[in-house]
Amino acid sequence: MKLLILGGTKFLGRHIAESAVNKGHNVTLFNRGQTNTNLFADAEKLTGDRNGDLSALEKGSWDAVIDVSGYTPSQVRKTAEMLKGRVKQYTLISTISVYEDYANGPAVEGVTKLAELQEETEEVNGASYGPLKQQSEEVVKELYGDHALIIRPGLIVGPHDPTDRFTYWVWRAQQGGTALAPGKPERKVQWIDVRDLSEWAIHMIENHESGTYNAAGGDPLPTMEKYLDTAKKVANADVTYQWVSDNVLTKHEAGPFVEVPFWLPVTEQYPDGFLLADASKAVDKGLTFRPLEETISDTLLWLNERKDHEWQAGLSKDRERKLLNEN
Ligand SMILES: NC(=O)c1ccc[n+]([C@@H]2O[C@H](COP(=O)([O-])OP(=O)(O)OC[C@H]3O[C@@H](n4cnc5c(N)ncnc54)[C@H](OP(=O)(O)O)[C@@H]3O)[C@@H](O)[C@H]2O)c1
Repeated sequence: MKLLILGGTKFLGRHIAESAVNKGHNVTLFNRGQTNTNLFADAEKLTGDRNGDLSALEKGSWDAVIDVSGYTPSQVRKTAEMLKGRVKQYTLISTISVYEDYANGPAVEGVTKLAELQEETEEVNGASYGPLKQQSEEVVKELYGDHALIIRPGLIVGPHDPTDRFTYWVWRAQQGGTALAPGKPERKVQWIDVRDLSEWAIHMIENHESGTYNAAGGDPLPTMEKYLDTAKKVANADVTYQWVSDNVLTKHEAGPFVEVPFWLPVTEQYPDGFLLADASKAVDKGLTFRPLEETISDTLLWLNERKDHEWQAGLSKDRERKLLNEN
């Protein structure tokens, strides 16, 4: 197939491009030509800016476009309209952040409360990210109908993850000593390995699938304790975990999800202390999950090769020590 990827060189798009190339597809990448320009030497490369010059997309036709870098409805409308009639299918990478609350258990596909929000700004920030993705989904459905595929991933993890959320805990295990472990050990956590997501996205496109799908880890979900213990085992680390309660973390204003990755205090809105999504619809369409050990060991391999990195998530040594002393 001829596939056009809007993005394709940082993390998810990079793995999608890799999966597509590995499966023998003919890949075109559209981006600004700023990130990892050395990748995919054999792919066709179109240079432009989603917030500016789109002229490189004026010509050409593809079997499908995979929009990994669309964050706002106007960005997505511009490319979706421009490509209409020249691509058979439009896949948008959305997010489970389109779900507003998780009070009734894992989120299932369907109409989200956020759909009703009228966002006047297109500035992407923590609060507007979900609503803007939701509105971008609506644009793709309006223009592509039965040829629109909307994928809503949970936390995406694995090699080249720029967010450091999963990577932090793997790294922390490797450091050894006494490590803070957040919230309740039995709290369920969920993610999707970027390779599983990418391979499945290509599989869905090959099968001309449409519709909206959550894409996040399946049954049974690991607990936070299982995740940390597996990281310890895979890293062969001499680490001891000390569990610090929601109360202590909240009292000392520990930052959910970024300062303390994979932790949210249990509230009415988040009774599971996490954003859990039901991925059974995607599983019915072939989404599979590699073993946790494999995701951790590949993340570790990548982490150990990484140089000059400024951490994007996780506790500093001092902060961790202070929180442990307050416990
Ligand atoms: N991380 C998570 O846990 C998570 C969870 C749920 C959903 N998601 C979604 O997953 C996607 C993640 O994307 P990714 O960053 O990993 O994708 P990616 O396709 O690997 O990287 C982003 C690409 O977009 C290009 N780009 C950035 N700004 C651009 C612009 N203004 N015009 C044209 N190209 C531009 C970059 O290249 P240049 O810099 O060279 O332009 C790069 O190729 C997002 O849609 C996100 O909402 C992420």
